Amino acid sequence: MIIAIDGPAGAGKGTLGRRLAAELGFAYLDTGLLYRAVGAKLLAVGVNDSEPEAATAIAAALTPQDLRDPAALRGEIVGQAASKAATIPGVRDALYAFQRQFATDPPGHATGAILDGRDIGTVICPDADLKLFLTASPAARARRRFEELQRAGDGRIYPDILMEVEERDHRDSVRTTAPLKPAVDAVVIDTTEMDAAAVFAVALGQVERLRQR
Ligand code: CDP
Repeated sequence: MIIAIDGPAGAGKGTLGRRLAAELGFAYLDTGLLYRAVGAKLLAVGVNDSEPEAATAIAAALTPQDLRDPAALRGEIVGQAASKAATIPGVRDALYAFQRQFATDPPGHATGAILDGRDIGTVICPDADLKLFLTASPAARARRRFEELQRAGDGRIYPDILMEVEERDHRDSVRTTAPLKPAVDAVVIDTTEMDAAAVFAVALGQVERLRQR
């Protein structure tokens, strides 16, 4: 079984993906980390986003080593670099095969795969058994990101985070290649007023419905 979870920054995709994977014994891939690893490398070598060939070469040369320290990739500076790199078609193409392989042949002989990102239901796994699109108001998503950063000891202020969330939403939605949007057959869940447990319950209900078919 393949489960696609898409949605904008801070909608709760990672929390849901990890929880569902633990419950179902499925493999889980946070595809944002791939784009973040590209963004981090671009920042490290000082290449700017107007050099698509360099970004594409970095994406094509990515190895599991580059994903070893997810915490180091989670910051907003890397997030912005990732979202710029993610507009480059060559970068997306270079990351396609790895994501597709993970979905169809999940590691550890798992009986299913859960991928979260922006284009899983539309481009990477248009054949997914279940497509969830999580969304929430920008204010709710920025609040969650703010609280997450505070817990990590980051002193940045809420208005800046809201601005960054809106900037990234905009860039991800208007790009021509694989823009952020729900697949036509996605189940859309607005999590503005829901906690993680409630979102998990709705998603698990969807999986159970599928299994009863
Ligand atoms: O965790 P958060 O929602 O903040 O972002 P992320 O999932 O780590 O993704 C970082 C950036 O990578 C996004 O803003 C997108 O521009 C890009 N991305 C993408 O284009 N396609 C994906 N499947 C996943 C991420």
